[in-house]
Amino acid sequence: MSQNTIPFNGTPEQEAALKAVIEKHKGMKGATIPVLHEAQNIYGYLPVEVQEMISEGLNVPLAEIYGIVTFYAQFSLNPKGKYQIGVCLGTACYVKGSGDILEKVKEILGIDVGECTPDGKFSIDATRCIGACGLAPVMTINDEVYGRLTVDEIEGILKKYE
Ligand code: FES
Repeated sequence: MSQNTIPFNGTPEQEAALKAVIEKHKGMKGATIPVLHEAQNIYGYLPVEVQEMISEGLNVPLAEIYGIVTFYAQFSLNPKGKYQIGVCLGTACYVKGSGDILEKVKEILGIDVGECTPDGKFSIDATRCIGACGLAPVMTINDEVYGRLTVDEIEGILKKYE
């Protein structure tokens, strides 16, 4: 799994909110996952700094927290970009070359799937079928859908968001 690509910049308000959540769950059985959920709502993702606070607060080893965060797809180690790119790797898109589209996006932005560019602008996710198979291969940027893509078009599309 990838690492953080932008520095942690949590606010004192977020930290206070997390501490309150930890206090509420302290000593309860099976508290880790609900606390991680609430922490992700507070911060938008679960960087190591947040995992450490939870580890200390709940007295659960950091390795165990990390194991949970990386196991469940709903938890994210990295922030999402202002522009969230989704490349569909569903069957219809995949057979029409969405794997190459994804590689091109990664190459242009210099980040991997699940990561965010250091300026916080773009993040990349590989998605399942989004129900637009007729337009395969499909890429989304926030709510915008780009269909019948070719690798050569990617650079121009990304430029629009710079
Ligand atoms: S497989 Fe990509 S939209 Fe359905």
